[in-house]
Amino acid sequence: MKISFVLNGEKRSLEVNPSEILLEVLRKRLGLTSPKCGCDRGDCGACTILLDGKSVKSCLVLAVEVAGHEITTLEGLMQNGISPIQEKLLDNNSFQCGYCAPGFIVAAHELLENNCCPSVEEIREALAGNLCRCTGYTPIIDAIAQVCKCEHEGKKGGCGCEGR
Ligand code: FES
Ligand code: FES
Repeated sequence: MKISFVLNGEKRSLEVNPSEILLEVLRKRLGLTSPKCGCDRGDCGACTILLDGKSVKSCLVLAVEVAGHEITTLEGLMQNGISPIQEKLLDNNSFQCGYCAPGFIVAAHELLENNCCPSVEEIREALAGNLCRCTGYTPIIDAIAQVCKCEHEGKKGGCGCEGR
């Protein structure tokens, strides 16, 4: 089947087999290696991407299902360099092997798009579907709790928050 979709801001068209999994298509056919394969069954979140702005596990999505939709991977989120989330994760040495990092960053991006200064509880809830085998949860959550999206956009307090 021929499908068309927007990938990281660019329109793409591709022939896919109806049973092809989006994660495999992104990694093996489109060369986007930020979504990782951890469990291949929706348990670990390593394959997290944004589908129309919402985080989804790409190992659970058929490629044909994204026809007409918009996909963003970590590569797309980094088109203007590393994000404030990534800066804080680096400052906090949040990752060890880093295999889980893209999934956490994409999920955190979705959270901060909708909530500029999430509480620790809200961060934990938003990242509940992401697992870190190196068990670095505390520095990951600490780092995200230090980000204030509106502060980085130069409008601290403009959204009604007090910033961090
Ligand atoms: S590889 Fe998709 S959730 Fe684990
Ligand atoms: S840093 Fe190794 S899996 Fe998370």
